[in-house]
Amino acid sequence: MKILVTGGAGFIGCNFIYYMLNKYPDYEIVCLDALTYAGNLKSLSVAVANPKFKFVKGSISDKDFVDRLFKSESFDIVVNFAAESHVDRSIENPFIFLETNIMGTACLLEASKKYGVKRYHQVSTDEVYGDLPLDRPDIFFTEKTNLSASSPYSASKASADLLTLAYHRTYGLPVTISRCSNNYGPYQFPEKLIPLMIMKALADESLPVYGNGLNVRDWLYVEDHCRAIDLIIHNGKVGEIYNVGGHNERRNIDVVKTVLGHLSKPESLITYVKDRAGHDLRYAIDPEKISSQLGWEPETCFDEGMKKTVEWYLENQKWVDDIKSGEYAEYARRIYGDS
Ligand code: NAD
Ligand code: DAU
Repeated sequence: MKILVTGGAGFIGCNFIYYMLNKYPDYEIVCLDALTYAGNLKSLSVAVANPKFKFVKGSISDKDFVDRLFKSESFDIVVNFAAESHVDRSIENPFIFLETNIMGTACLLEASKKYGVKRYHQVSTDEVYGDLPLDRPDIFFTEKTNLSASSPYSASKASADLLTLAYHRTYGLPVTISRCSNNYGPYQFPEKLIPLMIMKALADESLPVYGNGLNVRDWLYVEDHCRAIDLIIHNGKVGEIYNVGGHNERRNIDVVKTVLGHLSKPESLITYVKDRAGHDLRYAIDPEKISSQLGWEPETCFDEGMKKTVEWYLENQKWVDDIKSGEYAEYARRIYGDS
């Protein structure tokens, strides 16, 4: 079995590569990644030493390059993680999101069709459903919830999902889609809420909470997401969408206080800042389908996952420091006024 993992130098992709190399020592894994600001080859340093793993630098939006790669490698399965993934950046500069998330997906779908890939899996997000009201804790996103994207990021992901389903219906491409809630865990780029707060708390800097901090996200430990994708690509039904989430809704302010608690830092570090434009209020996944059809359940509870995550960042400060000195430093100056 040969699997192409795109975006494998990013957060979830690299966790997925480690998960798969560990679980299926006979599988060959090829990682295609453009190494944007969010991609980090150091995250794959252990995988690179494995003879079953190969890294290829390139863009999923480069149609000719993607075609040549598929022709020479004959992949059985494609799992597409590659994306521009940060909502705030999509508000600043939407166009790269359209290029990578829509056109890049189109290039992969086309090559998958041409070279007879046995399964194309699109890693999507619960953000394609828009948001839920804060005063209706009884309602959740199901696979039948209408698409209603709020940001250029989520609109680009919803478009990619539609294209993926169109390739199934029109050309019979064997596709599956997963729509997961917010992930956290090792190797997450520190522009996202949890690693950002860990990094800032460790430096005794103020912790920027958008708006009133009452927006709700549904948090899942990254390994549980990887296990869900593994189940879907092996046992999922072609043409189907699977929501992935573990009923772990938290208000942002409570997540930030949890981080401070783990690091024994004072809540006085919290600063309320200008809200995100179009800020989604609440995400909450109903995972009934993947649970009843594929037997998936989350294994890591939030307390344990947060403990492991904070420990990972404490033990891997060099990984964070390398990122902080790169393109991210300029971004942080622009968004947070960091010096
Ligand atoms: P990330 O930003 O950490 O990583 C993205 C990776 O894609 C990086 O390695 C980057 O270099 C690579 N990439 C970007 N443009 C590329 C291109 N044109 N060609 C090849 N590679 C390119 O993202 P993540 O948080 O790991 O998310 C991975 C996927 O999962 C995304 O599709 C995202 O929409 C989805 N997702 C993320 C979450 C979450 O909470 N992080 C939740 C649900 C779904
Ligand atoms: O739900 C899945 C999505 O989760 C993925 O599709 C996205 O790729 C991923 O980035 C994530 O999107 P969010 O916008 O929910 O994640 P983020 O970490 O950027 O923000 C989480 C919440 O925290 C959100 O309500 C905004 C808030 N926030 C974020 C940052 C970076 C703050 O209050 N302060 C901050 O500095």
